[in-house]
Amino acid sequence: MQAFIENMPKAELHVHLEGTLEPELSFQLAQKNNITLAYATPEALVAAYDFHDLPSFLTIYYAGMGVLMTEEDFYQLTWDYLAKARSQQTLYAELFFDPQAHTTRGVSFVTVITGIHEAQIAAKAQLGIDSQLIMCFLRDMSAESAMQHLTMAKPYVDWLVGVGLDSDEKNNPPSKFKAVFAEARAMGLKLTMHCDVNQDNTLIHMAQCIDEIEVDRIDHGINSLEDPVLIGKIKDKKLGLTVCPVSNRFVVQSLTAKEVQTMLDNHMLVTINSDDPAYFRAYLNENLIELQNEGQFSKADMATLIANAFNVAWLPLEQKQAYLSILADYVENN
Ligand code: ADE
Ligand code: ZN
Repeated sequence: MQAFIENMPKAELHVHLEGTLEPELSFQLAQKNNITLAYATPEALVAAYDFHDLPSFLTIYYAGMGVLMTEEDFYQLTWDYLAKARSQQTLYAELFFDPQAHTTRGVSFVTVITGIHEAQIAAKAQLGIDSQLIMCFLRDMSAESAMQHLTMAKPYVDWLVGVGLDSDEKNNPPSKFKAVFAEARAMGLKLTMHCDVNQDNTLIHMAQCIDEIEVDRIDHGINSLEDPVLIGKIKDKKLGLTVCPVSNRFVVQSLTAKEVQTMLDNHMLVTINSDDPAYFRAYLNENLIELQNEGQFSKADMATLIANAFNVAWLPLEQKQAYLSILADYVENN
């Protein structure tokens, strides 16, 4: 089963580029950029990772990205993730980035997006991994700041496939960003928002995502299972759910395998993803393998989880079908 998972052609739809910053690259960039880190070695940095909820993770995540300064740094970050993903048989990835977490440190929007974009092009040509970019807004910042960043993105709209919403969900409902997301939709972008596991008012937030914002996907969305009305809407609208098992474990001490199985049984379009793999110490294969260990999924279930990701990817139909047929061939022969 482990080999079946590792060699399976895959897609990843929920990964924060800043969350792929490995400790070794942190140290390399800190030295290059004359930044002093609070830890003596990469191992000491990892030992200090102490997450038990979303805010405790976000504090460490935002501190970590302070070493990213130049276009080359963003290129290296993106290239390293795409190379790692390709080594795990990921053929396609949709990548989140958080521009406000960089502009607030004095790093320009153009620096960030150009470094990422150039690495995406190089990785497609040299590694054979295709990717698209999703610009996230930090929900604990103002709607005005989000709108300003959407305006900054206008000259680069062809480099984006969608927008997302992340960071601290407490008291920051989807409705706060209704105008920003309407404008993004008018720019031709797809829409997604985080509904992290066990957040305050999570069912209200999910209903707002679907009814007010009219999202195309929901990130995480585990708690939707508590509300039959939400389940019905998610199924009717064929909304993908980007579940992140190892990330969930830091909050709910479970990989949410039972919930994933319930979603599969309900024919919901659940997908498996890594979220912030350098921090949670698990890329896509490790997420799938650990989930399988907890939930004892069948090969057919594993194949459905991956097929769901290609199905709800923001790709033209022919491209989805090409990936799905590569997956079907693999499943038939393994
Ligand atoms: N930023 C990076 N990872 C995140 C997550 N899982 N939830 C909210 N914001 C994030
Ligand atoms: Zn996330």
